[in-house]
Amino acid sequence: CHGASHVFVILGASGDLAKKKIYPTLWWLYRDGLLPKKTSFIGYARSKLTVDEIKQKTIKFMKVEKDEEKKLEEFFKLNSYVSGAYDKTEAFSALNKAIDAKGSCNRLFYLALPPSVYESVTLNIKAVCMSKDDKNWTRIIVEKPFGRDLESSNTLSSHLAALFKEEELYRIDHYLGKEMIQNLMVLRFGNRIFSPIWNRESVASVVISFKEPFGTQGRGGYFDEFGIIRDVMQNHLLQILSLVAMEKPPSTGAEDIRNEKVKVLKSIPPVLMENVVLGQYIGKKGGEGEEAKGYLDDPTVPKGSVTPTFASCALFVKNERWDGVPFILRCGKALNERKAEVRVQFRDVPGDIFREGEVKRNELVIRVQPNEAVYMKMMMKTPGMSIDCEESELDLTYDNRYKGVKMPDAYERLILDVFMGSQIHFVRSDELHEAWRIFTPLLKQIDKEKPKPIEYVYGSRGPKENDKLCTEFNFIYTGTY
Ligand code: BG6
Repeated sequence: CHGASHVFVILGASGDLAKKKIYPTLWWLYRDGLLPKKTSFIGYARSKLTVDEIKQKTIKFMKVEKDEEKKLEEFFKLNSYVSGAYDKTEAFSALNKAIDAKGSCNRLFYLALPPSVYESVTLNIKAVCMSKDDKNWTRIIVEKPFGRDLESSNTLSSHLAALFKEEELYRIDHYLGKEMIQNLMVLRFGNRIFSPIWNRESVASVVISFKEPFGTQGRGGYFDEFGIIRDVMQNHLLQILSLVAMEKPPSTGAEDIRNEKVKVLKSIPPVLMENVVLGQYIGKKGGEGEEAKGYLDDPTVPKGSVTPTFASCALFVKNERWDGVPFILRCGKALNERKAEVRVQFRDVPGDIFREGEVKRNELVIRVQPNEAVYMKMMMKTPGMSIDCEESELDLTYDNRYKGVKMPDAYERLILDVFMGSQIHFVRSDELHEAWRIFTPLLKQIDKEKPKPIEYVYGSRGPKENDKLCTEFNFIYTGTY
């Protein structure tokens, strides 16, 4: 697409997502010369703003080096801004005029918007902003939340499907843009050693976790409407699960991969409440600032809210490969560290001949962040005269192995994929349907029964009940999890 002109429209240009992620990402792509040569950017939102004001809002997230200032000026010269309502076709006609002024071009619309305006915005895009000629395309990028449950998500999907073709829709799950998540395909299908052991005969359990060391940071109002299951588990963690558990696709093409992901999701029965632990953080006694504040101390959180900020659950993939193997998903805010990882724990060695209890289970760990790594926990003879065994690692830490290699941000890869028309790392509508099918009964039960989440202290490992859940589902805690 290098020769053609492109216009990238950021809808919701004055909002948080645009400021923290979208503008900085477009700048990095521009700075690194990765965008098609003739690309310009139009911000759109209700407030009356100038490009200069957008610059002031976004610059602190752009990580601009001293010698890049001239380039940054060039970037902002390619930007313009249109203000208008989200539900007025005339306002979108004005936006369209601004796009048309760039000449014949491909059009990308990023909806960095609350879901309440999705419907009117997409109707207006369809009515007045689409590319007019056959040689140019229009692509729409949408972010979660894609609804709150299966029904609302299906309503949104049908609405979008009536307006756009599936190949025009790019549903972002930014975890699919992370290096280690993209590496899962290569790790699994580019190595002979894994395929014979990647199944119920050899794997005891799989744990996929997401931990964040901070709370809602004033975003409590938004968060409270959704809770951690909708915010992280139903999308990011389930997407990772599907890549860990899917069968080998016939090719690396987007449809082949997504067909396999859907198949594996279809084999997962809905999560049962009895296999779930819910938690909510409370302030840390003697802590300072954020740490001293519990979830309910956030003034934007409704009083007495029982929305979980921590959740773990065990679910099962009922197919020939995985039947009986627990997949434990765990996610939480205000925990002791920032970490996202996958742990594949293998079964005990049969017919163990060593001292009782000495031999530990092998574990393959894929650390998504921070400090990307793949390591395998192995038993080794303690070096020297002894004949004892000890646990060690085959360790591929990226900082050592790929020192100095720049790891692109997830949004950089994904936005570039949209320019290139690659949907491999985007969620297809049937994947989304399956993800909601798995979680909707549980979410409805939680909404109805409002169980009180277990309290855990800001900065802790989360509720102890999670450890019990892991033990119950055949995951032996080895100390670093
Ligand atoms: C978002 C969630 O999807 O992912 C946030 O809405 C969360 O609550 C964020 O903080 C985490 O993303 P990352 O890339 O920092 O792990």
